Amino acid sequence: MPKMRFMTIERHIIEGEKKHPGATGELSRLLSDLVLAFKVISLEVNKAGLVDILGFAGSENVHGEQVKKLDVYAHEMMFKAMDHGGHLCIMASEEEEDIIHIPSNYEIGKYVLLFDPLDGSSNIDANVSIGTIFSIYKRVSEDGHPGTQEDCLQQGLNQVVAGYVVYGSSTILVYTTGDGVHGFTLDPSIGEFILSHEDIRIPKKGKIYSINEGNYKYWHPGLKKYIKHLQEEDAESQRPYSSRYTGSMVADVHRTLLYGGIFMYPADSRSPKGKLRLMYECNPMAMIMEAAGGRASDGTKRIVEIEPTNLHERTPIFIGSEYDVKQVEEFMANEESLSWIDKL
Ligand code: AHG
Ligand code: MN
Ligand code: MN
Repeated sequence: MPKMRFMTIERHIIEGEKKHPGATGELSRLLSDLVLAFKVISLEVNKAGLVDILGFAGSENVHGEQVKKLDVYAHEMMFKAMDHGGHLCIMASEEEEDIIHIPSNYEIGKYVLLFDPLDGSSNIDANVSIGTIFSIYKRVSEDGHPGTQEDCLQQGLNQVVAGYVVYGSSTILVYTTGDGVHGFTLDPSIGEFILSHEDIRIPKKGKIYSINEGNYKYWHPGLKKYIKHLQEEDAESQRPYSSRYTGSMVADVHRTLLYGGIFMYPADSRSPKGKLRLMYECNPMAMIMEAAGGRASDGTKRIVEIEPTNLHERTPIFIGSEYDVKQVEEFMANEESLSWIDKL
């Protein structure tokens, strides 16, 4: 007999909310709406090779990057699934420059949703895993009115739920409300996400590092030394580490969460703030990683402590096993970091 309980994500969310006295069930209903969007996106991702959805949509997103059709589709699905539930007061998406208001004919709720509808979009044509990343906050502006930019620009510490979906060899949804990290695999035959990874804990130390090494020339000198250190031989500390990098943050962080190790997208002399977006990518992943016993830092401080000033701001990120993230922080602190940063 299988050891695990047969637990759908909807039931898991409801049971989780029941543990909090005074909970209204509103967050459960919001998450159920989101789950529907993920099922629809997953279906579309799986048939992407069969229909005319591959390739560039011909436009650029707000970061000046080419947008693929599936990004646009995923963004629209998220909006359509979430605009009329009555739980949100505002949304923001990596694919849209401004905050996204709830249409005036729908009820306005007390939650805020930020999302990267399709992460790893450069991998779509190659069938490499891609994903969706999201985070939910409580509004800080007055109830009953449309949400504001201030509702979206909150510290990661204020997230009430964070999660992601990987559309890979199977579709898996991982989420946390701060109290444990749980993974659910989509059973396509019944259309349900079933609990498959209960209470995920990241190993305290790993033996895999994940970074775009093509940018080596532009890195901080301490980071260069750190990567060289990982490549040296030392049986006791399980070096040399293995290197894995897909180009989809969601897939690289998911692997890091399960196997341990470290994923990095650092600042470099060409991109002084790194590449990844604080609000749509780094904060939700940081909340998940910390809830699983790991660490997420911008090199000097916790990602979730960053005070955001811009919806689309970027941050360097070092995320994964506690030991590994602390070690890269030390390497960078010991290596004339200030003068390097000042030169940028
Ligand atoms: P997105 O597809 O949402 O724009 O994100 C792509 C990101 C992230 O998923 C990945 O880790 C990173 O870009 C890869 O960047 P490089 O190609 O510079 O390594
Ligand atoms: Mn992304
Ligand atoms: Mn994206």
